[in-house]
Amino acid sequence: MDLGISGKKAVITGGARGIGAAIALELAQEGVEVIITDISDASAPATLEKIAARGGKGYFYTMNVTDYDSVHECVDKIVAERGSIDILVNNAGVTKDKLFVRMQEADWDFVLNVNLKGVFNCSKAVAPKMMKSKWGRIINISSVVGVMGNVGQANYSASKAGVIGLTKTCARELAARNITVNAVAPGFIKTDMTDALSEDVSNKLLAAIPLSRLGTPEEVALLVSFLASASASYITGQVIGLNGGMLM
Ligand code: NAI
Repeated sequence: MDLGISGKKAVITGGARGIGAAIALELAQEGVEVIITDISDASAPATLEKIAARGGKGYFYTMNVTDYDSVHECVDKIVAERGSIDILVNNAGVTKDKLFVRMQEADWDFVLNVNLKGVFNCSKAVAPKMMKSKWGRIINISSVVGVMGNVGQANYSASKAGVIGLTKTCARELAARNITVNAVAPGFIKTDMTDALSEDVSNKLLAAIPLSRLGTPEEVALLVSFLASASASYITGQVIGLNGGMLM
């Protein structure tokens, strides 16, 4: 299926590894020029190599999504060097799990700063560029636990629920400029984030998933690519689940 976005330019935050890297690879295969940004450059060369090996175009910029001023500086630099930003995938995310009663203020601030304020910072920097060109796609990576909550994840689930509210408001405000804003809410996906779970927790999780397996980063990437595509031009303000049936 031709997604009709060849030649567009996409910024993927936290795109050096995991789900973000899979999204970068998938978009690059569609002919999109991908600009990976991440706080850490450790995994970026390997991801850029994979993109190049499949004939795609990829670039890396260091960006900490929590820092309002440096996000704006980085976005201006990207536009100056690459020309425009048509697609923004707000993917950078962290966890710091603890039961609510034991959760420290620092655990809350850390997760909210990356997962929610980061989406605000990046969308705020990029939206004016999209408004000028009267075309844009913003895709925010939320989570199933932002909808249903999860033991040990008060900070994470609140941040991902916040992303859903931000998505719907931005969708309403930016629609007039032909910018769609959607959220993807994955269930449990096999990445470094879920590799950190104990066997006991993993087994309990699998029992709650009708399809009896974790999802893959590639499955998330295919959904994100569709939402970025020309074919998805009438979809905005939606939260699309991808969770093996764990939430219906
Ligand atoms: P990951 O831990 O493999 O990758 C996250 C990336 O974000 C890393 O490259 C990391 O360096 C980057 N990052 C962290 N803090 C940053 C900051 N301040 N500024 C810029 N980049 C930063 O995680 P994964 O699993 O690939 O997750 C990607 C997104 O998908 C996250 O938003 C996560 O919450 C979400 N998600 C993941 C699920 C899973 O089961 N793995 C399920 C549902 C949502």
